[in-house]
Amino acid sequence: MIDTLLHSRRTVRSFTERKPEEETLRTIMEGALMAPSSKGSQPWEFVLVTERERLDKLSVAKSNANALETAPVAVVILGDPEKTDVWVEDCAIAATHIYLGAEDLGLGSCWIQIRNRLHSPGSSAEQYVRDVLEIPSSMAVACIIALGYPAEEKQAHDRNRLPMGKIHKERFGSEL
Ligand SMILES: Cc1cc2nc3c(=O)[nH]c(=O)nc-3n(C[C@H](O)[C@H](O)[C@H](O)COP(=O)(O)O)c2cc1C
Repeated sequence: MIDTLLHSRRTVRSFTERKPEEETLRTIMEGALMAPSSKGSQPWEFVLVTERERLDKLSVAKSNANALETAPVAVVILGDPEKTDVWVEDCAIAATHIYLGAEDLGLGSCWIQIRNRLHSPGSSAEQYVRDVLEIPSSMAVACIIALGYPAEEKQAHDRNRLPMGKIHKERFGSEL
């Protein structure tokens, strides 16, 4: 089951106009809330964006955010650095739950990196997103996951072309 999901999941950057059902989104977000986090600190918060005007603004948060031009939903993932020093990891795991939940329910997804990215020279993508969504300055913006029904088809991962040399056995440098 999970193997099938991991095999078929590919990044989707072009979406149909069909809006994901409320129930589908709820199931995906419940999955995010079940993500493991350091000491159970749950340092994340999620902003679901579906208004086209706001999505358009997010699509220019930085370069390479063009998946948001057609995505009907964006999940903006925020972390609270006051809760744990490993909020980045916790947010990444929650994002992965969203990715896989979406795949399981027939939606496509694209991770859009915001943390450590620029909106324009001298201004951060993070502050831009904060301004668009009225996010308090105490919360860090990790990434945005674009969601929707795919308008493009991608090949599943090719099991015969996986970089198996990256897996070492017993000590670094020895093959599996
Ligand atoms: C941490 C991270 C940051 C990413 N940032 C972006 C991004 O800003 N924009 C984008 O279109 N895709 C982004 N991606 C998607 C990757 O480009 C994609 O996962 C990668 O090319 C592998 O393709 P696949 O997801 O189809 O296997 C990101 C993925 C990860 C995990």
